[in-house]
Parts: sequence; C-alpha cells; structure tokens
Amino acid sequence: MFVTFEGGEGTGKSTQALILADNLKKIGIDVVLTREPGGSPGAELIRNLLVTGSVDRWSTMSEVLLMYAARADHWQNTIKPALDAGKWVLCDRFADSTVAYQGYGRGVNKGFLQLLYLHIVGDIEPNFTFVFDLDVSVGLKRANSRMSGDAIVEGRFEAMDIAFHERLRAGFLEIVKKNPKRCTLIDANLHPREVHRLILRVLQEKGALSWGNPPV
Ligand code: TMP
Repeated sequence: MFVTFEGGEGTGKSTQALILADNLKKIGIDVVLTREPGGSPGAELIRNLLVTGSVDRWSTMSEVLLMYAARADHWQNTIKPALDAGKWVLCDRFADSTVAYQGYGRGVNKGFLQLLYLHIVGDIEPNFTFVFDLDVSVGLKRANSRMSGDAIVEGRFEAMDIAFHERLRAGFLEIVKKNPKRCTLIDANLHPREVHRLILRVLQEKGALSWGNPPV
C-alpha cells in the first residue's frame, strides 16, 4: 500500500504520517515512513540543495530536475523495493507536490511534469493521498515558528511570496478535484486526533484496513 501526505507549509501532514506509521506498526503492519525531497541517502543530499539557501538559488527548471533526480533515487532505492516486498510506504510529499509547487506555483508545464513522472516512476500511483488544506498565512506562521531553532534552516520554499503559496494551495485543491478516487481533502484546522481518525476511516472504508482492531 502506497500512501502519500500532501499540502502546503505548516499543515501538520508530517505529524499525521508519523502517527499513522506508529499505529500501523502496533497492529503488526510492516511500514516504511519516508519523505520527499529525500528518503534515500542520495536524495537527502539533493534535498539539502533544494530546501536551503536563497529563494532564487535555482531556476525553475533546475528545481524541477533536482526534484526528479531526488525522486528517481528515492523511488529506485526506497519506495519500489518496499512496495515490492509488500510493505506499506507512507510518504511525506510525493509527485503532487511537484505539480502544486513547480507546476501551479512556478508555472512549469504540467504535461512535462507528467512525462517526467511516467519515465521515472511509471504508471504506478499512490493508492491513497491525503491533501492537507489550511489558510496560507496560518500555515506559514506555524512553519516559520518551527524553524526558528534549527541549525540548518530549511526555509527556501517558506520564504517564497504569499502569492506563490496561494497558487500552490489552489493547485492542491485542483489536484483533489481531478483525482477524487485517490485523494482525500483534509481540513488541517481539525484537532490532530480528529485528523488521524478521519484518515483511519478512509483507509477502512476503502478496504485497506479492516474494521476490527482499528489502530487509534
Ligand atoms: P517539507 O517542508 O515538507 O519537508 O518539504 C520541503 C519543501 O520542498 C517544501 O517547501 C515543498 C518543497 N517541494 C517542492 O517544491 N516540490 C516537490 O516535488 C517536493 C516533494 C517538495
């Protein structure tokens, strides 16, 4: 089972991925919790290039290709082997983030992004995608307060202007509309416990988890 967590900054998706991973493990499910950009040694090196430094450190196209260089390594070395072994993979961001951030946010042609996806990942899609939606200013405030103590500040995308973040938020909403079977929109204002329950309910209703012994 391949589950992805998507959304703008400060929406709480990483926390939810972690809670779900912990609770699935408790009921004996073999889980790999991973993230993008990153998730394999090579991709983590590329992550560092992408999320640090000035906003204009990379041209839009360099950014896309770095994202996909990281994704190619992550897919080959982490995600694909885990899925082939029958494990659950929970991924904190995946290709929808490229469509939202680089496509809707920075204006990259979506057909080109789709082509990259097909060449690098193939015709496999996540089974379930949870898209976390939150007012942009609230999310950025949360994300920025979290960063203040970090030794290495991963703030390159957070520092992009509000209009960019509004565009990617609208982009994620479009992605949910276009992929109603795969995607569930999550109101990130809800209490984290409520969000976790909602995620479990979706996984149960869609047959990925049994109704008995739900991991709460
Ligand atoms: P994180 O803050 O969720 O760890 O993600 C790092 C940043 O990378 C985040 O600001 C979103 C950005 N990103 C993209 O712009 N495109 C992508 O394809 C991915 C996976 C992340």
